Amino acid sequence: MLVSAAEMLNKAKEGKYAVGQFNINNLEWTKAILQTAQENNSPVILGVSEGAGKYMTGYTTIVGMVEGMIKEMGITVPVALHLDHGSYEHALKVIEAGFSSVMFDGSHYSIEENIEKTKEIIEIAHSKGISVEAEVGSIGGEEDGVVGGGEVADVNECKMIADLGVDMLAAGIGNIHGKYPENWAGLRFDVLEGISNATNPMPLVLHGGTGIPEDMIKKAISLGVSKINVNTECQLSFAAATRKYIEAGKDLEGKGFDPRKLLAPGFEAIKATVKEKMELFGSVNKA
Ligand code: 13P
Repeated sequence: MLVSAAEMLNKAKEGKYAVGQFNINNLEWTKAILQTAQENNSPVILGVSEGAGKYMTGYTTIVGMVEGMIKEMGITVPVALHLDHGSYEHALKVIEAGFSSVMFDGSHYSIEENIEKTKEIIEIAHSKGISVEAEVGSIGGEEDGVVGGGEVADVNECKMIADLGVDMLAAGIGNIHGKYPENWAGLRFDVLEGISNATNPMPLVLHGGTGIPEDMIKKAISLGVSKINVNTECQLSFAAATRKYIEAGKDLEGKGFDPRKLLAPGFEAIKATVKEKMELFGSVNKA
C-alpha cells in the first residue's frame, strides 16, 4: 500500500537522515528503485514529473503499475508516490488518480499567490491523507524543458509557507537540477541554517541531488534536510551501462537484442546508484 511521505520524513528529520526521492520514467526504473528499497530496508519516495507522467500515458497508469509492483514484488517498506514540481492543475489530477503525496510548485508565482494556491492544495490533499510539498525560491537548472534561474529562498517567505501546514518544504539554496557547472559555488549553508531555524521541525527538501559532493549532502542533512531528490544521476548510470552493452556488441550476440537482456545492465546500474544514495543519506534499515 502507498503511504503519505509525512510520517517517513518526520522520522527522518528526528533521526537525522534523509529519505531519497528517485524519479521514475518507466517500468524498469520503478522496479529497480522498489527492489533496492526493499533489499536495503529503506523507505522510499517515487517521484513523477509531469513530463514523465505524460510519457507513461497518465497518472492512473502509474498508480496501477506501482501498486501492482508493491503487491507482486512483496514490497513491505514504506513507499510514497509523489508528484514532482506539480502545477495546481496536475496536483489535483494526481490526487484524483491515487498518488499518496504531491508537490505543488508555486515558486514562480508571487508569494501571495503561492500561499493562496498552496493552502487550497493542502486542504484537498490532507482531507485524503495525502502529503504536500511546497516550494519557495525556484530551483535552477533544467527540468522538463523549463529552465529556472536558481534563486536563493527568502527565510520569511519560507516561514509563511511552512506555517500553512505543508508536510515538507523545498527551498532554493543554490541547488540546481541536472549536472552542476564547473564553477558552481556550492550550497548556501548560511541560508539553509536560517530557513531550518525558522521552520523547525518542518522536514526540508533538497532538490538537484545529482552531483552534490558527499560532504555537502551530509552537512545539509545535519541542518534539517530530510528528503533529497535524485533524477539525473540514475539517467546517467542507465545510459552509461546501456552504451557499454551496445558498444561491446552484446545486442548482436545470441538473443542479446531481447529487451529483457538489453535493458538489464541499465537496470542494475540504477539499482547501484540508488543503493549508494540510500547509504549516503542514511536511510538504510530505517523502514
Ligand atoms: P537531479 O536531476 O539534479 O538529480 O534533480 C532531481 C530533482 O530535484 C527532481 O525534483
